[in-house]
Amino acid sequence: MSLPDSQIDPTICRLSESRKPAEPCTIVIFGASGDLTARKLIPALYHLFKEKQMPPSFRVVGFARREKTDDSWRTELRAALDQFSRTKPVEDAVWNEFAKNIFYCMGDMTDTAAYTKLEQLLTSFGQTALRENLLFYLATSPSQFGEVVEQLHSSQLLHKDGPGWQRVVVEKPFGHDLESAMALNTELTRFARERQVFRIDHYLGKETVQNILMFRFSNSIFERLWNRDSVDHVQITVSEKIGVGGRGGYYEEAGAMRDMVQNHILQVLSLVTMEPPVSLEAEAVRDEKVKLLKSIRAMSPDDVAKQVVRGQYFAGAVGGEARPGYRQEAKVRPDSNVETYVAMKLLIDNWRWSGVPFYVRTGKNLPMSASEVRIQFRPTPNVLFAAQCGQKLGANALTLRLQPNEGISLRFNGKVPGTSLAVRPVRMHFSYDSEFGAYTPEAYERLLLEAIVGDATLFIRRDEVETAWQIVDSIRKGWEGKALSNREFYSAGTWGPVASDDLLALSGHAWHEPLMVT
Ligand code: BG6
Repeated sequence: MSLPDSQIDPTICRLSESRKPAEPCTIVIFGASGDLTARKLIPALYHLFKEKQMPPSFRVVGFARREKTDDSWRTELRAALDQFSRTKPVEDAVWNEFAKNIFYCMGDMTDTAAYTKLEQLLTSFGQTALRENLLFYLATSPSQFGEVVEQLHSSQLLHKDGPGWQRVVVEKPFGHDLESAMALNTELTRFARERQVFRIDHYLGKETVQNILMFRFSNSIFERLWNRDSVDHVQITVSEKIGVGGRGGYYEEAGAMRDMVQNHILQVLSLVTMEPPVSLEAEAVRDEKVKLLKSIRAMSPDDVAKQVVRGQYFAGAVGGEARPGYRQEAKVRPDSNVETYVAMKLLIDNWRWSGVPFYVRTGKNLPMSASEVRIQFRPTPNVLFAAQCGQKLGANALTLRLQPNEGISLRFNGKVPGTSLAVRPVRMHFSYDSEFGAYTPEAYERLLLEAIVGDATLFIRRDEVETAWQIVDSIRKGWEGKALSNREFYSAGTWGPVASDDLLALSGHAWHEPLMVT
């Protein structure tokens, strides 16, 4: 007997069933007055609570310098939630229940007495687990990570080996080059074990990014083609319509390479290209990612000149809206050479991918916000239809749309109906929303939950972050002392500098605009 697809029990393969239960715990947010807390962390915790995914008992403690009471902080957070919640309106009954668990601890991160106060607050919660199972979320400036962790350790709140469990979630940027990332790793692991450190990359919390592994390793038809025999090249685009806006100060130190490539893009690339892990355990998945990152061919400064294009936007318009040039943005040097766009050709020296170019690009003030991976397959031999119709046949392509309109599309050729022999590319689309409804949890919901249950699969391991910096550092070295050339500027609202088209044209390729499927 065969079952119609709609009757196949989805629980058969629900991975979350193997997830450990969420134990009672307290989440302490350092940098509680910041943007991240209001925009992402509290909305994520509220939704986890609403979906009944939080532990049976929990507390959220905000730790920051500004003077506030529990009540005034709750009021502030409620206003922010009304603005940033992904579900609207916020449900009063749910919020009121949730808010009872929120507390504020006023203190200076450098002051030992503040940690004693925090300890007293935790003890006042009564239940041992709420005092011992602690998730410290460092939403502070990176220069404070080391200090906070040291203070937590010396005030007996963070132990290397129990009682209970303590974990430290670290926001990006994790260092600004290999050396600083290694120094930070050494600092953190003086006071916590590597398994207690959860380095965040919010791209790993995105549903569609997680689906890359699921898609690859649960479908035999595609995985068979996922190698140099069938793939001509791969394009990864992460384009953004926004400019740097109010983040000029940060961006001057970062640039697109550190801001997007070192983390999000290399993460997506490694998920698309890694070998199947031996299991879904965190270490097995991360071992494969590191192995892949290590096989990305290192670039000499000469290679960088040939394989990497930087760009910076000048004034233009995005979707009809006027945008200033990067050098005119607040807190940006008027002669800045910081890149707001990067495109590059990467090669992976391993058995599977040898010789296949991977083109990646990311930039600000581009015509659309879209992230996608396009696997471009090899063309057919130029006989039969192509030769007969005098047409250049488009090759097959598989597009993984990460955002927006998350889904997967397959492009193939079809005959145009009628008596002629015309062939035209057509597409098969799968869309998350139409298949599963519009329920898309935010990346932070998934990541916070994983950190609470202690599953590190979606977090970056020490060797992973260091290998990624090694790749990025070698490229940045090739730029040292070189100002941007005219060919590396682009008008806001266009697809980046001309040099980026030339990069692909050299190998007979061209960028494809992200698919906007509605
Ligand atoms: C952040 C970068 O990590 O990712 C930002 O610092 C960027 O510059 C953002 O805009 C993009 O994230 P998303 O989820 O909007 O694609």
